Amino acid sequence: MDRNELLHRYRETRNLSVELCRPLHAEDYRIQSMPDVSPPWWNLGHTSWFFAKNILEPFGLYSQEDARLEFVMNSYYESLGPRIRRDHRGLVTRPTNEDVFRFRESVDGRVEELIRTAPEADLDRLRFLAFTGIQHEQQHQELLVTELKHILGSNVPELREAYRPAPATNGHGAPAARWVDFAGGLHEFGNVEGGWCWDNEMPVHKGWLDGFALMNRLVTNGEYLEFMADGGYRNPLLWMSNGWAKVREQEWTAPLYWEREEDGGRWRLWTLAGVRDVDPDEPVCHVSFYEADAYARWQGARLPTEREWEHAARVSGFPGANYLDSGALHPRPAEANGPGLAQMGGDLWEWTSNHYEPYPGYRPFEGALMEYNGKFMDNVRVLRGGSCATPANHIRASYRNFWAGDTRFQFTGTLTPQPLSPVPPPTPAGEKRGACPRNVL
Ligand code: AVJ
Ligand code: FE
Repeated sequence: MDRNELLHRYRETRNLSVELCRPLHAEDYRIQSMPDVSPPWWNLGHTSWFFAKNILEPFGLYSQEDARLEFVMNSYYESLGPRIRRDHRGLVTRPTNEDVFRFRESVDGRVEELIRTAPEADLDRLRFLAFTGIQHEQQHQELLVTELKHILGSNVPELREAYRPAPATNGHGAPAARWVDFAGGLHEFGNVEGGWCWDNEMPVHKGWLDGFALMNRLVTNGEYLEFMADGGYRNPLLWMSNGWAKVREQEWTAPLYWEREEDGGRWRLWTLAGVRDVDPDEPVCHVSFYEADAYARWQGARLPTEREWEHAARVSGFPGANYLDSGALHPRPAEANGPGLAQMGGDLWEWTSNHYEPYPGYRPFEGALMEYNGKFMDNVRVLRGGSCATPANHIRASYRNFWAGDTRFQFTGTLTPQPLSPVPPPTPAGEKRGACPRNVL
């Protein structure tokens, strides 16, 4: 990537974050509707701070004004100094929104100048840092969209307003569920395709897979409604213990953002385009790992492992659509109805059964970036594939996202309950799969 390409990619990414904030009112910038949700002003400031700290400072272009913003903009970097509590980002009125936009412009001016004029000898290092900053900002674009959904959705029903209208739907119904078989064998995992990647995708390593089957598409609302109607949220035997504790504590009876009309009427859904009926053909969305796992168990199946997911995605050419770029900001019924998989990329992140762990021989990035991923490899689950809030040029088959198992505000779904072997035929609608075979003594 030469200077011009890098400059172009930098500008494109920085502009998109500002564009995503266009529909907001000044008030919307300041609210932290729950501890996990950062207010939009912080998101815009933090991504700029990331460039200031990782590029401008080491290249000698850091200013006094930048330094004043450090405390409030640092997210979790111990090596970069003290910081405001994460759950206090919504409790401050300075910097103002205007201050944040001025900070962005100031950072952009200096970073762009540096990309144009840095000595050749520094270019490799600059390229890596700038590209990493761009990827970081893209992660925050997804966060921004999901945070906006939560922030705007937290207003009282009478006053709730859509973020923006939805574009026309693709008009598809969901294709029939089918199992797609994959042969076992010794396969490669991680950044097999090469190119820039996060440290958590490296090193490339081999691993054994037994033969397996995945469902050809995401689980739909219609299918999930059967789980609900069958008492899925009332049967502790379907749940991991920590998941059942959440069901009780937080009184889960449906995915996040579902609301039922009075007297057990229709299920309605909060989307970034406002409230509307639940569409049975759309993928079920905003489910936690625990819900995806309970649903799979109810099906007599299990979630795919990270390796199964990655191998299937890779040999299928990472089929996907409906990334942030589509503008839908909501998952859609799968388009393809061919013999293979659909919806591996885009639409919704898919929970895997894996805890987030380093690959064998893992080495974190160097310097301040060593804190980026490694220290979070604890008590979280891996998700794959990207969503309708992920920029299309941000995602790939080897990409690893991670969230705590009870997280619901991200665009999360479940692609592929994987049947217990031997592979049974797809479950006819309304019928449960048989239980696990027993040992015969
Ligand atoms: C990969 C989405 C879990 O939100 O903490 C943003 C992304 N890392 N800034 C997160 C991230 C640093 C990360 N997730
Ligand atoms: Fe960040």
